[in-house]
Formats: sequence, C-alpha cells, structure tokens
Amino acid sequence: MTRVEQIGSATLHLGNAYEIRPTLGWFDEDVMDPQYQFDNSGGGEYRKARGASDQIVAEGLDQGFDHRIINPLLCGGVVVFCHNDQLHELLPYIAGLFPRYVVNFWAKPNPAPHRNKHYLADTEPYIHAWKEGCHPVGEHHDMHRWIEAGSMPSRIYGHPTVKPDAVMTKIIRNLSGTSVCDPFMGTGSTGVAAIRAGKRFVGIEQNPAHFDTACKRMEQAALSIAREAADA
Ligand SMILES: C[S@@+](CC[C@H](N)C(=O)[O-])C[C@H]1O[C@@H](n2cnc3c(N)ncnc32)[C@H](O)[C@@H]1O
Repeated sequence: MTRVEQIGSATLHLGNAYEIRPTLGWFDEDVMDPQYQFDNSGGGEYRKARGASDQIVAEGLDQGFDHRIINPLLCGGVVVFCHNDQLHELLPYIAGLFPRYVVNFWAKPNPAPHRNKHYLADTEPYIHAWKEGCHPVGEHHDMHRWIEAGSMPSRIYGHPTVKPDAVMTKIIRNLSGTSVCDPFMGTGSTGVAAIRAGKRFVGIEQNPAHFDTACKRMEQAALSIAREAADA
C-alpha cells in the first residue's frame, strides 16, 4: 500500500523506504532512526517494567536494517540513530562513504531498567557524517555532542521509540542545508523539528498507524507555525 500526503512544506509517503527513497532524489541531509539490532530477550523481574520492549519485538524494530539505504550520492550528510551493538558494523560502513563523521549521544535521565547484566541503556548514539561543504552548523554553545532529554513513553503516539522534540530540534539545528529526508520517520519527530526550523521535509513510513500519527503531528506543527507567523 502506498499513499502520499502533502502537509504544508512536508511530503509524507506511506510505503517501503528501500523502494521509495531512491526515487526521491537529492536531499541536503538524510536523518534516520532505522530498526535497531540488539538482543532484546531477558530482563527477568524488570521485563514487565520495560513496556516498550515487547512492542519493539512485535514490530520487528530489533531486526536491523539494510545499510545500503545510506547513500552519499543522494545526500550531503546523514544522521543515523542506532543501538550500541550496531556501532561496530555501522561505523566502518559510514566511514567508507563519508570523509567526516562523529558519534554523538542523547542521554536519558529515565532509562529502562537494567537488563542482561549490561550497562543501563541511558544513552543512545547517533552518528552524524557529512561530505565536504555540508559541515555541521551552530554557535559554540550549540555544538555539544550530547543532549539530555527524557525518553518518550510508548503510550505517547502509540510507538515504542519516539524521539523527544528536544533531541530532534538540537540535531536539526546542527545540520546545514534546507532539505531533510527521514526514510524511517515513525511518528514524524524529525519532520516536526525540520518544518519548525523552516526546512523542506520528506518522510517515509511503512506502518499505516504510525503514518497516520505522523500526518497528525505534522498538521499540528504546520498549524502552530502558521499561527505564530500570523501573531508576529
Ligand atoms: C525506530 S522507528 C522510528 C521512530 C521515529 N524516530 C519517531 O520518533 O517516531 C523506525 C520506523 O521505521 C519504520 N520502518 C521499518 N522498516 C521500514 C521500511 N522498509 N520502510 C519504511 N518504514 C520502515 C517502522 O515502522 C518504524 O516506525
């Protein structure tokens, strides 16, 4: 099933990112939060406190993704969220495509309970890689490589891995260029931050329920931007 919605300056595609993204052409930045790959078993007595874990498994969000969707022929830079356990494969792949990259983090003051005799999941990496001429931008005080923000409970928007507004706003602020594509947009967190920053946004999501949530969030954001402009 495919569908396209135009909402203000944003275009949202319902469908498969691997088929649709190559047809969309060039964007200044691809910002993506694709499926993670990690051992999501166990948890023991804490498992029931990790409500989102079962939804992550049920939706296949622990199965990894095809790295080839990261394509420097189609973008000037890329931001990729990932699980710690994906870094050893993802970093060499990205370093082979882009001349510069950094590993940044967002820190969660409310991490899921400890599991599998591992460290707490209180930080999540995101890799930002860029080509010559597409360097990160921002004032000195805005160039931190980490940001703290409470993780979003899965009941908000019915999605287990929604990125907080503060995280996406900070990431978008550090990106050069005027256009952003998120091929795994989920509930549209990247899109909301992108259109608030005045950038053109195109998102892709294959799950119809999450796609509808993204449309609603984008409509609300477009409305509040229009109201702010009218009040100014
Ligand atoms: C980790 S979530 C992204 C969550 C998003 N950052 C947010 O804040 O809501 C990854 C999303 O990619 C979607 N997805 C997985 N495979 C896809 C594919 N091949 N094409 C399009 N979307 C896909 C999933 O349905 C899921 O909503």
